[in-house]
Amino acid sequence: MNRSKIAGIGYYVPERVVTNDDLTKVMDTTDEWIQERTGIRERRYGKKHEETTTTMAAAAARIACERAGIQPQEIDFIVFATLSPDYYFPGCGVLLQRELGITSQEAGALDIRNQCSGFVYALSIADQFVKTGMYKNVLVVGSEMHSMGLDFSTRGRNVTVIFGDGAGAVVVQPSDDPNRGILTTKLHSNGTYAEKLAFINPGAHGGYHKQHMDEQVDFGYPPTDTYGEIFITPKMISEGNYYPNMEGQFVFKMAVSKFPEVIHEALKEQGLEASDINMLIPHQANLRISQFVQKTLRLRDDQVWNNIQKYGNTTAASVPIALCEAWEAGKVKDGDLVCLAAFGSGFTWASALIRW
Ligand code: ACO
Repeated sequence: MNRSKIAGIGYYVPERVVTNDDLTKVMDTTDEWIQERTGIRERRYGKKHEETTTTMAAAAARIACERAGIQPQEIDFIVFATLSPDYYFPGCGVLLQRELGITSQEAGALDIRNQCSGFVYALSIADQFVKTGMYKNVLVVGSEMHSMGLDFSTRGRNVTVIFGDGAGAVVVQPSDDPNRGILTTKLHSNGTYAEKLAFINPGAHGGYHKQHMDEQVDFGYPPTDTYGEIFITPKMISEGNYYPNMEGQFVFKMAVSKFPEVIHEALKEQGLEASDINMLIPHQANLRISQFVQKTLRLRDDQVWNNIQKYGNTTAASVPIALCEAWEAGKVKDGDLVCLAAFGSGFTWASALIRW
């Protein structure tokens, strides 16, 4: 079987910078609280009605294609990871195909709904397609326009201050060197705690999971009638019941245990140690989580890339944005062992080891 590699990488973040102080004007929060708990100083928000998850993805994808030395027309499959799609359906994969002007090729497009680990899952799918020889140029994208779906009142502050907008993309191609490229990917999930970090309405659950909702989530408002419909109902609006919810401390505890576990799993399979990692690109969930993981793996500061301070948590986009930044800064070089790792809602978690 072939090995696949990341042949080109790009990212895009919107121009508009939103600082913690900016958020204090709309909700009861402070720069000090946000920095101390999350490490975030500022994030980017896309231009409403001009930028979308798809347009940001296209900007990142064009750079990735150029760096891979291909025209967008040569893409033969798209894998798009996002939790903030332009439409409920169809997914962003086909919208990206249209945005890139490559509809006439009629290449396949797949949307991934795996939240923070979406990009690593998407990369793994591309890896399988390329390794088996099915495709030669797979475009893998993580893009999020969170700013269009957050609760900017004080009630939503524990979630809203964390998230930002942006996109990252890579082109996966066959590697001509059998020792270089994607060495392995590890994918996991456990749905037991699905509601601990969730955006349940609108949705077709019709109240079916109510027991789990009541047990798991302090929604911050009466959860008595969280009965779902696939469309937004007047009741959801009157209760303000159409925003993401997160039990932060629970998520934190799971993340700091699953990140090291899935990294060690990949390393062990490849006969490698944590000390062999030249650059760890963790999903930018929270600086405290990344620091905890770094300490657990006994990595130096120069072995871990963090940029959550500037962009907040961009969910599926955070890994490719961070990887691209590290590569542009010359911190990911040929022959380096790069480790990508992510954990998020579902819960889902994943890692990838790449010999660059
Ligand atoms: N500003 C000021 N006060 C706030 C804010 C805010 N933005 N948000 C919450 N608070 C208050 C709460 O109301 C609470 O007040 P109280 O004690 O009077 O009730 C107090 O701060 C403590 O709230 P906690 O939720 O217990 O705060 P915690 O220390 O757990 O920090 C945080 C919250 C930052 C979300 C933390 O739990 C965390 O980082 N968890 C990990 C979750 C994460 O990273 N999610 C990212 C998405 S998932 C992923 O990417 C893996």
